[in-house]
Amino acid sequence: FRDVRVCADAVAAEALAAGLVADQVARRPHSVLGLATGRTMIGVYEALIERAHAEGLSFAEVESFNLDEYCGLGPEDAASFARYMERHLFSRLDFDKARCHLPDGLAADGAPRYEALIRRAGGIDLQLLGIGRNGHIGFNEPGSARGSRTRVVELSEETREANRPDFPAGHEVPGTAITMGVATILEARRIVLVATGAAKAEALAGALEGEVGEHNPASFLQGHRHVTIVCDREAAAGL
Ligand code: GLP
Repeated sequence: FRDVRVCADAVAAEALAAGLVADQVARRPHSVLGLATGRTMIGVYEALIERAHAEGLSFAEVESFNLDEYCGLGPEDAASFARYMERHLFSRLDFDKARCHLPDGLAADGAPRYEALIRRAGGIDLQLLGIGRNGHIGFNEPGSARGSRTRVVELSEETREANRPDFPAGHEVPGTAITMGVATILEARRIVLVATGAAKAEALAGALEGEVGEHNPASFLQGHRHVTIVCDREAAAGL
């Protein structure tokens, strides 16, 4: 990887990643963005909102596609990624909600439709990615093939455990999700992966410097021409 940016801390990494998204939209107001969820992205979106306000940047022409959604959760569900996006990003900038897409957690057969929608939009200009502690991207867990496309997947116990805090007490974390595939993600023209905190150090080192393979789905990014890694010192500890 030629483009690895190690920042002093998470706040700096979030601001840098937000800046790359803002620059993309400033350059091309009708950009197609691939968006991610997770705790890492909350700070990225906070920084993006600040930046957009400061620069008077409009997202009205942007089209967006989220990576994934839990099966069985609808947009009104408090723990759904649809609600997350609404709360942390869409409602806080001038996004046109008709142009903001997530996989439908209530339609297990919606995967081909989602792929077709991305294609019809012209493909993704910039895909934001986090990374799971086991190297997952989107919800492509270890064992996901390089050629995988949008589909329903089983979540690992480790991933369900990591995401349990996002669910209200008494609510089970779904066992399945619908996610863009590895091949879907790799078709994005540019990818920005953000990793912060010590818990990501091992997965990140494996992704960037380890062998490429299904054991660490993020390692498939080594085969992409335009990836920017944005991390803090803690996440970079294993590099
Ligand atoms: C989640 C999401 C991923 C995200 C990853 C890391 O479950 N499906 O898209 O990148 O796991 O999440 P976090 O930023 O909370 O560590």
